[in-house]
Amino acid sequence: MKDSLLQRLESLREDFSKSLTQVSGEHSLQELKSEYLGKKGRLTEVLKEMGRLSAADRPAVGAKSNEVKEHIEARIAEALQQAKSQAIEAELARDRFDPTLPGRPEILGHLHPVTQVMKQCRDIFERLGFVTATGPEIEDEYHNFEALNIPEAHPARDLQDTFYLQGKTWLLRTHTSPVQIRQLARQKPPLRMIAPGAVYRCDSDVTHSPMFHQIEGLWVDEKITFADLKGVLARFVKDLFGDALQVRFRPSFFPFTEPSAELDMTCFSCQGKGCHLCKGTGWIEVLGCGMVDPSVFGFVGVDPEKYSGFAFGIGMERLAMLKFGITDLRLLFENDVRFLKQF
Ligand code: DAH
Repeated sequence: MKDSLLQRLESLREDFSKSLTQVSGEHSLQELKSEYLGKKGRLTEVLKEMGRLSAADRPAVGAKSNEVKEHIEARIAEALQQAKSQAIEAELARDRFDPTLPGRPEILGHLHPVTQVMKQCRDIFERLGFVTATGPEIEDEYHNFEALNIPEAHPARDLQDTFYLQGKTWLLRTHTSPVQIRQLARQKPPLRMIAPGAVYRCDSDVTHSPMFHQIEGLWVDEKITFADLKGVLARFVKDLFGDALQVRFRPSFFPFTEPSAELDMTCFSCQGKGCHLCKGTGWIEVLGCGMVDPSVFGFVGVDPEKYSGFAFGIGMERLAMLKFGITDLRLLFENDVRFLKQF
């Protein structure tokens, strides 16, 4: 009897060892545990028979059964621990996370190069005391042409240059100069304004776009002279492109200014020696300007005996191209982010 129980305990331990190699996972291990150690488990069955042993045989079988029980408990605990860490490993393998990877930066948009240059220009003029004024992009002939001393027969009024709307009653403004007229009608001098905005011309090729941007400027007060014009505009160009460059004023013609001039600056690419950018002249044309023609004052009821003023108009796309070294105007209108994100 004693030997057969010892034998059963031994084979029970062997069976357990075999089964243990075949199960995996926490749940199956718990089942295996109760199969051997539970209330109706195999070890419990053996223990029930111990009552039938003689007092002399009992200690040996008791010791053996304790040994087997402890063995099973220890192996199960070990296997459970292992199953747990395997489950964690598996989970980590599923959601791979490398905390040493650098973070992904937020991609921020930025201002279009023309908008950037426009803002720089406005900042410079605002520091010089100019206040921003606006006017409509759909204009009439009076503000866009007539009051600016551009006569009926002037080529600028030609259908080929101007986008007319509704049989010539309205048009898309061809320049920002009509804002001069609108502001002078709203505000008596002294007046110091800039007018940034979009303008339109029936023109489209490598160097012309049907829509582009200008900043108009106007300073009217008593005793404003050409020296004021030179001082302000030289300051502007140097603030924008650097103090080292030279500016020159070249006689020109605009119907609304007398005298009129164009401002050139030394070519920043060749420092005036002459290169392809300045077409060998050493100078780059930046803007148009002049003293307000008394006939313009006549249209808005400003006394030309008392007041004088100067005006200027600057093309923004051209300035952006100069500033950023962009050689093809069309790139500014294609909105290709590969191009735009370089600025
Ligand atoms: N309005 C002119 C144009 O679009 C630019 C211009 C030239 C504006 C001289 C002015 C000026 O105010 O004085 O070509």
